[in-house]
Amino acid sequence: MSRQQGTGNDARRDRGMFRTKTVEQSIQDTEEPEHALKKSLSALDLTVFGVGVVIGTGIFVLTGKIAKEQAGPAVAVSFVLAGVVCALAALCYAEFASTVPVAGSAYTFSYASLGELPAWIIGWDLILELALGCAVVAVGWSGYLRSLLDTAGWHLPAGLSGTHEDAFGFDLLACVLVLVLTAVLVLGMKLSSRVTSVIVGIKVTIVLLVVIAGSFLVSGANYRPFLPPSRPTEGAGGYAAPLSQLLFGFTPSDFGVMGVFAAAAVVFFAFIGFDIVATAAEETRSPQRDVPRGILGSLAICTVLYVAVSIVVTGMQKYSQLSTDAPLADAFKSVGHPFYAGVISFGAAVGLTSVCMILLLGQSRVFFAMSRDGLLPQFFSRVHPRFGTPYRSTVLLGVVVAVVAGFTSIDELAELVNIGTLFAFVVVAIGVVLLRRSRPDLPRAFRTPLVPLVPTLSVLASLWLMLNLPAETWLRFAVWMAIGFVVYFVYGRGHSRLGLRNKATGKG
Ligand code: ALA
Repeated sequence: MSRQQGTGNDARRDRGMFRTKTVEQSIQDTEEPEHALKKSLSALDLTVFGVGVVIGTGIFVLTGKIAKEQAGPAVAVSFVLAGVVCALAALCYAEFASTVPVAGSAYTFSYASLGELPAWIIGWDLILELALGCAVVAVGWSGYLRSLLDTAGWHLPAGLSGTHEDAFGFDLLACVLVLVLTAVLVLGMKLSSRVTSVIVGIKVTIVLLVVIAGSFLVSGANYRPFLPPSRPTEGAGGYAAPLSQLLFGFTPSDFGVMGVFAAAAVVFFAFIGFDIVATAAEETRSPQRDVPRGILGSLAICTVLYVAVSIVVTGMQKYSQLSTDAPLADAFKSVGHPFYAGVISFGAAVGLTSVCMILLLGQSRVFFAMSRDGLLPQFFSRVHPRFGTPYRSTVLLGVVVAVVAGFTSIDELAELVNIGTLFAFVVVAIGVVLLRRSRPDLPRAFRTPLVPLVPTLSVLASLWLMLNLPAETWLRFAVWMAIGFVVYFVYGRGHSRLGLRNKATGKG
């Protein structure tokens, strides 16, 4: 039964923090000249964007660490599990993006279906995925570049090489990368999209090189055992164990079936980004048709590549010997092919730049949408008169992310990025079901199959992966979200454009 048969401008509901913004209103806002983004992207551009942001630190760095410490060669199974969770979520994102083709992704979807407070929560949560994700990848990139520079005989002073175990340092390269990419994004989507296409081409070539050249260097003995037996996690204090193991009373352990699940929750990072295609919906020429294609296409390509890469790499080198910094390159070194290793390191350094750029792009668009709605200061939602880009939010976020990247180390942050993203998946899947009920009338160019079964499975699968993340990640996540609540009640609630409009028309 329909709870809100909204039509046109009159369809805004005011229920305080749960007031929703109609889909029509969201689309109308994008047409205001001072807030309008340029529509220049095609399905191919979006797929390139998707692949550009998805293939990154996850496959280039995490594969080795996770195979070595948690899953063995069965890391390929972890990739499949994480891919399935993402596919379920992608089917929900695709429907939402084709129904609400407006900048802001899960934030916008939630505003249209769940209400203002849930939308704010999701927007705040997306900062974890996008801004923090960008910082994490920038730091990973800087590691690869330093290793290339070292090979060439140039060494950065330790104080400018980032923070390592016991020594604190500023990560100059990571910081500079983010600032340069910010400038590229301010100059315009088309330019950034072109830069991305070249980078994505190099990156996919490198990944294919690993798979094809590596498949000739595989030794069957390295796959035995494929699923190493479980063993207690060394030195893991209570909170470092996956929440699922603590909740169900297991002794924290690596490898075995539980290890494969825990590994899936971490390699999930490798898939992050396909949802960002949805954030570019407003800049797409035919969003209803092209956004679902872009999302599902990039996800499918990446899943196949990841499984292939992980099978090949764990076949080239015993999982227990894999390197944790540059596992793909080092696997080639281990079988006597340093030339390939150099090419792969170079490709990884180039490839990670596009990941950073698109994460930053997604973040600036979500921030732009939140600011346009008045939940953040509206100053940030002005579009540049010449470049047609939201330059103020882009510059602000670029500077903040550059500083974070300069002062932070990767490890725990990646898990925080994962929990934030999985939480967004849960909200989007619920939103699809609610929007079907509240607005059955809306045109949906892409329909999630088997509603409510697929969204329900998506919620359960995402929650399961979240439970496989360490308890301490849950704690950090809770603290971040608590800060978000404070910001909403102190600023966003009173400045919400929707709230002010409703007041003016006597609805609030
Ligand atoms: N999926 C992206 C990566 O692996 C974020 O770097």
